Formats: sequence, structure tokens, C-alpha cells
Amino acid sequence: MTDTYSDTNSSLRTVEWKNNKVVMIDQTKLPNQLVFVEYDNFHQVANAISTLVVRGAPAIGVSGAFGLALAVLQSNATSKDELILDLEKAKKILFATRPTAVNLGWGLKKIMDVAKTGNTIEQIKELVISKAKKMADEDIEINKTMGKNGSVLFDDNDTIMTHCNAGALATVAYGTALGVIRATRESGKNVKVIATETRPIQQGSRLTAFELKHDGFDVSLIPDTAVGYSMANGLVNKVIVGADRIVKTGHVFNKIGTYQVATMAKQHGIPFYVAAPLSTIDLETKAEDVIIEMRKGSEVTGIGDKKTAPDGINVINPAFDMTPPELISGIITEKGVATAPYDESIPKLFKAN
Ligand code: MRU
Repeated sequence: MTDTYSDTNSSLRTVEWKNNKVVMIDQTKLPNQLVFVEYDNFHQVANAISTLVVRGAPAIGVSGAFGLALAVLQSNATSKDELILDLEKAKKILFATRPTAVNLGWGLKKIMDVAKTGNTIEQIKELVISKAKKMADEDIEINKTMGKNGSVLFDDNDTIMTHCNAGALATVAYGTALGVIRATRESGKNVKVIATETRPIQQGSRLTAFELKHDGFDVSLIPDTAVGYSMANGLVNKVIVGADRIVKTGHVFNKIGTYQVATMAKQHGIPFYVAAPLSTIDLETKAEDVIIEMRKGSEVTGIGDKKTAPDGINVINPAFDMTPPELISGIITEKGVATAPYDESIPKLFKAN
């Protein structure tokens, strides 16, 4: 077990390309062990995405890109056409792992586009690997810019609620929602954080509480059922969450429970912000066509190895929900903050320099 502190202002580095291998933090082991796993096969990366070894929209986007970089090294193709065919097959397998976060398809497409510009096998290998590495580095830079853009919306002594994990562990490093919180602290403001547990698989307690504590934040953990209590009793000034997909109308798809947090924030007049890079914005798909991943019932009928529900119980376990634009005070991106009407402000972000 190694604990590496990266050069990203003390936040963790989630996924990295090292010596032609993909190195990731195994998030299923957190918070008890900080373990790094190494993959040299794209099937292992696909499995890591479906089993949540790596999770969070930007992190799976970059992991998909690294998966294709492994596929290019694994291929025995002897012509450009054969290599592109091998990459298409790998892309299909990687894409099928999780349906809701748009970043996965975005990352895979970026790599396929660059692969097609190469003329020789060697050239394609070089192009694909360097593009995937660049996407990882850019993710950190984007998060830092987004953090600065969002930090002006938060005040000294704010207590900020967040749901799920939209932190360093959901990106390459630094985070989206937690990146804004980091940047707010770096701007000299004192902030406290309330993290929801985020059942069923507890990304809030296992990951957000872990990474904020790791980086010395004042963080309190609450069960998801205490969101209303915390807001009604003045414990929260603002809310910030990440997103897996945002459509043009400003509907935000994020971890199950986000909609409840946003509704409760509206009830109490508490600003509710979303932080996400442009790669999370899907201008093509309509809200009603977004696929919500349904996960296995055992995530709900137990915690870890402990069974907490009767055998044979029917379970409904959606991994994400949709928060409508009227509950959202602003969408923070690396190109600025979009506010309602989102169908006008979101497209403008793509035109900004
Ligand atoms: O199922 P997960 O853990 O991949 O879900 C993650 C989330 O819902 C995050 O909030 C979202 O991906 C934003 S990450 C910056």
C-alpha cells in the first residue's frame, strides 16, 4: 500500500498512466485501505469501471481513454484498418460498462477521433497514448479553473453541503464540486463541509469524508435522512454537487438522492449549485432519453457483507436521478457559471473562449 501525494495541492491522484500501464486507486477499498491497482489490459479497465474500482463521471471518462490506450498496445494488428477495428471492439466493451455519465462516451470518442488521424500503427499508438495522457492532465487544469469560477459564489464561514463524491476521487484529481470547495479555501475563506452518507454504496462517507479529512477540511458526516434536519436547523448555507450528465435544458443527472437534496434546499431558500466540466454537458440528448443505470439489489439489502433486509425482498435501486433546472441556482463550469434560462446560457458556454 502506498499513499502518494500528488502535485495537485495535496488532493489524491485517482488515475494515472505509468510505464504503459493504468494505475488507479481501488475505491472499493476506501476508506479502510488506500490501495493502488495496476492494469495492462483494457478488459481489466472495463471491469474496474463496472465494479466501481473507479467511478465518478470525469474519472471514468479518462479511464475509458486509458482503456483504449491499453487496447492499442494489446493489438496485434498489422494494418491501420485492423488496428482501428480492434479499437472499435474495445470501445464497445468499455462503453457498455456504465450508461449514465456522458463523459465515458466523450472520452472514448476523443481517442477514436485521434486514432483515425494516424497513418501508421506506430503513429496511432503514439497519438492515442499521448492524447489519453493529455486528457488526464487537462482534467486537473479544468477542475482548477472551475474551482476558481465557483469560489466567488461562496462566502467566508459558509457551511457547504455536498452529496455523493464529486471530488479528487471522482476526477483525475482536485474534483468538481469539491474542487470548488478547495478553491474557496485556497482563496482565503474559511469553509466547513457537511457530507451526506449517500446510500446505498456510501460514496459520501467512504470517499468524500475520506478525501476531505485527508486534505484537512472541517467535515461532518450525516445520514441521508438528516438533510432536512440540517437545513431546517440552519446548519447549511449552500449546497454543491457534481453531475454525470447535464442536458441543454439544465436538467442535471447525478447520484441518486440529489433531487431530494435540491428539493429540500429550495424549501429552505438555500442556494443549490452544480459543478461540472463541459465534457459532462450533453447538448444532443433530451432529458427523457437519458438512461438511468439500475444497479443490483444486494447494494440495498446489505451494507458490506452484513445483510440488512429479508431474503427475497424486491429492490428498486436506481443509481442516479434527475434534478430539474428550477431547483438549480447555477451550473459552474470551466467556462463560467450558467444560470436560468439554461437553454440560453448553456450553449453560450461552448462559444466562450
Ligand atoms: O456511481 P458513481 O459513484 O460513479 O456516481 C458519481 C456521481 O454521481 C458524482 O456525483 C458525479 O459523477 C460527479 S463526479 C465529479
